[in-house]
Amino acid sequence: MKNNCIICAAELSKGHLCDECKSFAPALLEKLRNEVRELEIALSLKKRGRPPAKAPDEPATAQKSPEEVFREKQQCPVYINKQKLYEGLTGKILGQSEALKSLASATKIHLAKVRPLRPASIFMAGPTGCGKTESVNVLVEMLKKITDIKFELIRVDCNLYMESHRMASFMGAPQGYRDSGEPNLFSVLIDNPRQVILFDEIEKAHSNVLTAIMGILDYGKLKLSSPLKEKDKDGNIIKGNEGKDGISEIDFKYALIVFTSNLSLDPSAKKVGFTTDERRNLISVEDRCKEALVKAGVRPEIAGRITSFLQYKALSNSAIRDIIRLEIELCANSFGLIVYNVSDKIIGEIIEMTGAKFGMRAFKQLIESKMGESLADYAENTKNADDNFDNKIVVIEGTLKDDEALNCKNYNYGMKSDDIV
Ligand SMILES: Nc1ncnc2c1ncn2[C@@H]1O[C@H](COP(=O)(O)OP(=O)(O)OP(=O)(O)O)[C@@H](O)[C@H]1O
Ligand SMILES: [Mg+2]
Repeated sequence: MKNNCIICAAELSKGHLCDECKSFAPALLEKLRNEVRELEIALSLKKRGRPPAKAPDEPATAQKSPEEVFREKQQCPVYINKQKLYEGLTGKILGQSEALKSLASATKIHLAKVRPLRPASIFMAGPTGCGKTESVNVLVEMLKKITDIKFELIRVDCNLYMESHRMASFMGAPQGYRDSGEPNLFSVLIDNPRQVILFDEIEKAHSNVLTAIMGILDYGKLKLSSPLKEKDKDGNIIKGNEGKDGISEIDFKYALIVFTSNLSLDPSAKKVGFTTDERRNLISVEDRCKEALVKAGVRPEIAGRITSFLQYKALSNSAIRDIIRLEIELCANSFGLIVYNVSDKIIGEIIEMTGAKFGMRAFKQLIESKMGESLADYAENTKNADDNFDNKIVVIEGTLKDDEALNCKNYNYGMKSDDIV
C-alpha cells in the first residue's frame, strides 16, 4: 500500500466517526500526515545508503530503551576495593577472616572481567550457624554500598528442590506439560544480570537440579524447557509453553553463584601411613571440599567446575563472645541505644542458657527475649532527651536469670564528668 493510500483511508473513515471523536479527527490526520512524511524521508535516505539524520540534541543512546541502557551499565566491569569489601565483611562476620579474604578475592576477580565466560562459583563449607549464609547477605549489602551497580540476591533453598517436579521453577515446564504458573526463579537475570545467587545446602538438591547447575557452570547459561515470553504491565514475565519467540535461555555469566554446605571436611584417616592431622595438612581445602561433595553424592564433574572453595571454621569461644556482644549492640540499636559495655557475666549466662551447640541463631532469639524489655524501658525513660546524645549510651549489667535484675543504665552513671573519655 502506498503511503498516500494510508492518508486517503483515514480521510474516508472520518465519516464513520461519532460526533465526539470527529472533533479530534483534523489533529489526528495532521499527525498521521507528518509521520508518513518522516517515514518517506527515512526510506529514501535508506535507499541511498544514508542513515536518517538525528535531531541535533538527541543523545546517542536515544534508540535504546531504559531497560537496555540499565542492562548495559550492569554488564560493565566493576573495579572494587578488595580491602574495603574485606573490612565490611569482617566487621559483621567474626572469626572467619581466612574464608572472607578468599570471598573478597573471588568477588573482585569476577567483577573486573569485561566479558566473563561463566559465573563466579564459590563453595562455602562449615558447621551450622557459623556465618556462611550471613556472609552472603553482607556481601550483597557491601557490594551495593561500594559500587554504583545494583546487586540483588536470589536465594535457592536446595532443601525445597529435592524432588524433580519442582524443576519447573528452574527451567520452565517440560514440553507437552501444562505450565504450573510458578514464576521462574532466575527470570530477574534477564533484566539485571548482576545477581548473587545462593544455593543453600547444595548436597540436598535433586540430581536434575545439579545437572542444571552444571550447565550454568559450564556454559554460563541455563537452557529452558519452555521459553519465557514477554512481560505484563506490572513487569512480570508471562510464560508460555509453545511460543517460538520467547526467551529460551538465561545468561548467568555476570552472576556470582555461592553454594553452602554443612558437609564435614574432616578427611578420613584411612590412607595408610598418615594420621588425620597429617592428612589435613597435606590436602588442600579445595580437595577436601571436592571430596566431601562427591561423598555426599554430587557428581565429580560438578564439584570440579566450582572455582573457589572456602572453609568456615567452627566458632572459637572468643569469637562466640564477640558475636554475642555484636548481637546485643544490634539489639540495643534497634531501640535507638548505643552499648558502651556489656558485662562478661551476662555474655557467659547467654552461652550457658543456649548451649553453644545450637549455633548463633539461638543466641539471637535469647538476647531479644531476655533484654528487649529492659532496653525498651530505658529507651522510653530517655525519649525526651533526644537532644542529649549521652543519654542514649548504656552499660548493661546484672543477671538474666532474674527478670527484675537486668540493669540497663547510663554509661556515665556514678562517674564524675572527668572520668568520661
Ligand atoms: N561468624 C559470625 N559472625 C557474626 N554473626 C554470626 C556468625 N556466625 C553466625 N552468626 C549469626 O548467626 C546467624 C546464623 O548464621 P548463618 O545463617 O550465617 O549460619 P550458616 O553458617 O549459614 O548455618 P547453616 O549451615 O545452618 O545454614 C546469623 O544471622 C548471624 O547473626
Ligand atoms: Mg545457612
